[in-house]
Amino acid sequence: MRTQVCIIGGGPSGLLLSQLLHLAGIDSVVLERRTRDYVLGRIRAGVLESGTVDLLRRAKVGDRMDKQGIVDEGIVVAGETHGFRIDIKALTGKSMMVWGQTEITQDLYDAREAMGGTVIHEAEAVKPHEMDTDAPFVTYYKDGAEHRIDCDWIAGCDGFHGVSRKSIPRSVLKEYERVYPFGWLGILSETPPVTHEILYASHSRGFALASLRNENLSRYYVQVPQGEPVENWSDDRFWDEFKARIPGDLAEKLITGPAIEKSIAPLRSYAAEPMRWGRMFLVGDAAHIVPPTGAKGLNLAASDVHYLFEALKAHYLDKDDSGIEDYAQKAAARVWQAMRFSWWFTTVMHQFPDQSGFDRRMQESEITLLETSKAAQAAMAELYVGAPY
Ligand code: FAD
Ligand code: PHB
Repeated sequence: MRTQVCIIGGGPSGLLLSQLLHLAGIDSVVLERRTRDYVLGRIRAGVLESGTVDLLRRAKVGDRMDKQGIVDEGIVVAGETHGFRIDIKALTGKSMMVWGQTEITQDLYDAREAMGGTVIHEAEAVKPHEMDTDAPFVTYYKDGAEHRIDCDWIAGCDGFHGVSRKSIPRSVLKEYERVYPFGWLGILSETPPVTHEILYASHSRGFALASLRNENLSRYYVQVPQGEPVENWSDDRFWDEFKARIPGDLAEKLITGPAIEKSIAPLRSYAAEPMRWGRMFLVGDAAHIVPPTGAKGLNLAASDVHYLFEALKAHYLDKDDSGIEDYAQKAAARVWQAMRFSWWFTTVMHQFPDQSGFDRRMQESEITLLETSKAAQAAMAELYVGAPY
């Protein structure tokens, strides 16, 4: 088989890139290791930056989001005793959208199918070859037979555990990492959300986050120690802990119910450079991971896709390779800004196992600065709603 762009990974990055390329008349094939149902079952991100919202509309997968998504114009930050609102819309003129990753992936799969796009599921042992030549290709196994796809470019959209990044020689790849000594225990429950604006709470018992998916679907998280087994957390234990960490007025109106999903995600900051090696590009989680504090993961995947799509479009339609040459540097520059923001917000909001009284006072002072300084709020709002591409 031959295609122009061979995309490894059928998560949000790979599907969105393939959809945008198709609309521009550029051919691609997506190779995904898992089944479609498995990909659609992963409960992950929920808050979209305004740039991501625009990109989804551009990719013609914005209709359901615009009808059913919840426009979010502010966030609430809380310390030990009370919360305060940061009016993102007033400070930036832009707003976020609460719209789950599962819904985005669903719409992208439906759109790819309706347009006759090629997405190959359960592709095993996918391997990129000859990326440092002008004739790269990708091999994989499906139903016991080996297949080969020749292409002009390879897009590594295969997430943190994928094969693309690992195929770059160790002498070329530079990695940067911080692992945090805690994770997030998240639950999804069919209950009305306690708040319609995302609440980030820094409590001496640990961090808590209140989010939502729709009027009757809440998404809540609490910080737990690194390596904690999810079996240790009954629904009752979760609700008691969550209530203890959020401001009292909200705890009083919280409606609880059975968890329909419960899982623990470890927290880390990670970046690999360069994001391009020869004819292969790294996109989204394949190149970088941020802790979810600040909701940047999926949004960074979207900005990478934007830069790569524009680069490939200019290459095919205008015979202009400047975007290809600039991709790694442009995408990484935006990644590092979000990396700093997520690291900062994680550090301010979480309890660290070895933290001192001084450290806690510093965290409280950061939160007070955010509450009392319009300038601090403006800086936070700009970063939260997302830098323009
Ligand atoms: P992925 O979504 O990881 O997609 C990669 C795809 O590639 C997968 O479908 C995978 O099956 C496939 N693949 C992997 N290896 C291969 C291979 N060898 N061959 C073929 N296919 C392969 N972000 C937020 O903004 N907010 C959140 O609340 C949030 N919560 C998260 C919770 C968890 C548990 C995780 C893991 C991530 C979370 N994120 C969150 C991050 C966000 O979900 C990711 O940034 C986003 O999924 C990145 O999309 P992606 O397409 O780059 O990677
Ligand atoms: C979510 O809704 O899952 C969510 C919201 C905000 C975050 C992280 C996750 O910062």
